[in-house]
Amino acid sequence: MNVRQATIADLPGMQNANLTNLPENYIFRYYLYHALTWPQASFVATDASGRKIVGYVLAKMEEEPADGVQHGHVTSLSVMRTYRRMGIAAKLMALSLRGLADSYGAKYVSLHVRKSNRAALHLYRDTLQFEVEEVEKAYYGDGEDAYAMKKDLSLLE
Ligand code: ACO
Repeated sequence: MNVRQATIADLPGMQNANLTNLPENYIFRYYLYHALTWPQASFVATDASGRKIVGYVLAKMEEEPADGVQHGHVTSLSVMRTYRRMGIAAKLMALSLRGLADSYGAKYVSLHVRKSNRAALHLYRDTLQFEVEEVEKAYYGDGEDAYAMKKDLSLLE
């Protein structure tokens, strides 16, 4: 398994992993916009051959931050089922947070996660020390609430 910065050629594999793993999906152009605008924010994990995408993190800078503070946002993260619990998501996130802070000056990073998503909540809250900012009622298309989470990047080692 290999983790590296995402390239344009990786985008179809990232979209495929997203469609396989999550109900929140995006048009291809949105992947392209991320990769062209913030190339150092998105990363992929590949299998041993280096060709199959088994995990990705798609991240960006918030373009018009409501609070006026430059910050990043994790649009989507997922790892293929048979590759889970091997530390891949933690590694993808660590690289993305570093890229957002170092390359784009992000002061903090935000994301949304379903209240019921135990695996992702463990990763964000316990492994990566994100904090819950607020509950956004019926944030998702099916009516589920989201935790809006945030991590201060000035604490990044
Ligand atoms: N239950 C409890 N804890 C878990 C679980 C689980 N099912 N899966 C992982 N963890 C813990 C690990 O034990 C580890 O904890 P540790 O640091 O205390 O050892 C930590 O979470 C990180 O584990 P990783 O192995 O890095 O995580 P993994 O590569 O398995 O990926 C992910 C986690 C991305 C949540 C994966 O389960 C997945 O793809 N799920 C479906 C898609 C998804 O929910 N994506 C997140 C949506 S939110 C968003 O996109 C912004």
